[in-house]
Amino acid sequence: MVEQKKIIIDTDPGHDDAIAILLALASPELDVIGVTCVAGNVPLHLTARNALLVCELAGRPDVKVFSGCDRPMVRKLVTAEAIHGETGLDGPQWDPPTGQLQDQHAVDWLVETLLDAEDKEITLCPVGPLTNIAMALVREPKIASKVDQIVSMGGGYFVGGNITPAAEFNIFVDPHAADVVYRSGIPIVAMPLDVTHKALMTQDWIQTLEDLGTEVGRKSSQLLSFYNRFDLERYGMAGSPVHDPATIAYLIEPDLYTGKEVYVEVETRSSLTMGMTVVDYWGARRKEPNCLWVSKVNDEGFFQLMYDRLATL
Ligand code: BDR
Ligand code: CA
Repeated sequence: MVEQKKIIIDTDPGHDDAIAILLALASPELDVIGVTCVAGNVPLHLTARNALLVCELAGRPDVKVFSGCDRPMVRKLVTAEAIHGETGLDGPQWDPPTGQLQDQHAVDWLVETLLDAEDKEITLCPVGPLTNIAMALVREPKIASKVDQIVSMGGGYFVGGNITPAAEFNIFVDPHAADVVYRSGIPIVAMPLDVTHKALMTQDWIQTLEDLGTEVGRKSSQLLSFYNRFDLERYGMAGSPVHDPATIAYLIEPDLYTGKEVYVEVETRSSLTMGMTVVDYWGARRKEPNCLWVSKVNDEGFFQLMYDRLATL
């Protein structure tokens, strides 16, 4: 048995969030000790419901799912129904979840769990706006030393933004939370648009999931076919970037990825570039790096890994 890495997935499912959760639950290297939900792609009551649905789809109703912050720290919530549909997981037919959310608020659970942990025992994988993580850090700064690293999907530098010309959705929704996280001193691995746009999912690959003939394969394929349409129509890309599973793939097979240690700061004041991740790629400010900014991926290896793992569910 491989030694398992303890992770917490903080998420706003979301089609690509769903695939990230499935990938993690299919991977023996990872022990998902909890899933914390945040408002983002759709409002909180839907992201929490969707997280329950995805854990149940994976055959893991035992995974603890917590509902967290229903709005960003300072700004009004911005959602993404245009991409993820009204439910956040449009595409397949879903029966209501059979399980229940945990009673505790996600931020309380994060603080309690991290305080109880050894130094660097837990890895955080935020794949939505960073509100829950930042709120936990503000409530109890001592939790920072308990986190091994934060492997997060968010930001964009070389390819710009996707919700505004300058900002990627997760950072734009709660830039103040992202600012807290980037200043926390916890080692960060960023999976920005710069890398997720280099692994485009084709309809042929989606069909291979359908061909698995399993419930996970069928629902994943229906989810991704729905999700794929937006990028094909809007950007004219060959397929859509499936952003969030990059965080989980990095934890399983880091060699698939290449990045650079850099200093990143989040814009929280300008209305034009709100939520921009300002990456000092060439060290102009001579600051200590706070982040591994990932910008290259072995895309074939990434899709093979996802296929192999989803096939086991
Ligand atoms: C991010 O925004 C969301 O719509 C996706 O789930 C992903 O986390 C990509 O910008
Ligand atoms: Ca997400």
